[in-house]
Amino acid sequence: MRGARLDGNLVDVGVAGGRISRIAPEIEKQGGREIEAEGRLLSPPFVESHVHLDTTLTAGEPRWNESGTLFEGIQIWSERKKSVTHEDVIERATTLLKWQAAQGVLHVRTHVDVTDPDLTGLRALLEVRERVRTWMDVQIVAFPQEGLLSYPRGLELTEEALRLGADVVGGIPHYEHTREMGVESVKQCFRLAEKHDKPIDIHCDETDDPQSRFLEVVAAEAIRTGMGGRVTASHTTAFGSYDNAYAFKLMGFLRKSGINFVANPLINITLQGRYDTYPKRRGITRVKELWQNGLNVSLGHDDVMDPWYPLGTGNMLQPAHMAVHACHMTSREEVTACFDMVAENAAHTLRLKEYGISEDHPASFVLLDAPDKWEAMRRLATTTLVVRNGKIIAEATAPEYYLMGERVNLYRKRDQPSR
Ligand code: FE2
Repeated sequence: MRGARLDGNLVDVGVAGGRISRIAPEIEKQGGREIEAEGRLLSPPFVESHVHLDTTLTAGEPRWNESGTLFEGIQIWSERKKSVTHEDVIERATTLLKWQAAQGVLHVRTHVDVTDPDLTGLRALLEVRERVRTWMDVQIVAFPQEGLLSYPRGLELTEEALRLGADVVGGIPHYEHTREMGVESVKQCFRLAEKHDKPIDIHCDETDDPQSRFLEVVAAEAIRTGMGGRVTASHTTAFGSYDNAYAFKLMGFLRKSGINFVANPLINITLQGRYDTYPKRRGITRVKELWQNGLNVSLGHDDVMDPWYPLGTGNMLQPAHMAVHACHMTSREEVTACFDMVAENAAHTLRLKEYGISEDHPASFVLLDAPDKWEAMRRLATTTLVVRNGKIIAEATAPEYYLMGERVNLYRKRDQPSR
């Protein structure tokens, strides 16, 4: 690959045997195919750290979510669940994975609802994970949507999902019937994780209720077990509603725990704040402060066209773009940080090995129609090339605009990319 922009420099990238053999300002011609990057941004692939492939692409079935709340979404899903079949899940999940891969996402962590006596969604996604293995990595979280302890046999079903091959233990303490059951559910998640040697990713405090304080339980268990970086707290939207005295105490404690955070800005900004009049809360966790405190924060899309969110194409720049706004991350450095939250940081959450662009790593990367991450965010740039293990798996043409026959390129004069 000739003339790609990496960390502000134009480089050539040599690929052999599916791996990056060399990165240098100029590599002599050695035969094989050459791609002209034309100064585009070379980035490691996007990583989707939180999505629901079992519920995706069902928006409007059997009805649309009129209140826009999390709880109406859960109700609609429990109705739609009755008509879920193996083929239905495979078809929808594979469609979204294709949308994602076409836009440069090569790693996906999906939660799958295991509060279903037949584990239909789980069995389907285990099959999907194998079918797509040549072009996409999928991690499956056994997620007890209707409660690990509150749903009949929820604990047994979650453990059965792990035995069948789920990669990660999930939970939903704020949805358990009582606070005590919520605390106990977190402890049971850790027990399962230790028993089956799996990481943990818990839907934690996804509510505006400032009394929802299961994050401290997750952090305490992470410290007690030493699981630290193998633990992820997803959503933690109540953290946006805690008073500052408690939030300050908690932050120190979180630093000690070393757990990962996943915020889902598109879904949090739309699902939360629904019971407020004005002022309306943003309903999103303290992304900026977690990031400033050195904790690993990634961003997920969460839902794509399902009972909780009617829009989306799986493009990871959309949640990153929303984070810039909803989390007040508009400085030069902060905008770039939001880009990293759907790439490097998300790779860290998923504990991916050999991620990133360096010699000897797998040749898995994307080109974006922008000179740098900041411009990619501003222009919601098109991913024009997706390479996985040295093979081109997707290509796209960036849109071109013409006004009265003259090309308009959406750059200021001083920011025009060279080459
Ligand atoms: Fe979720």
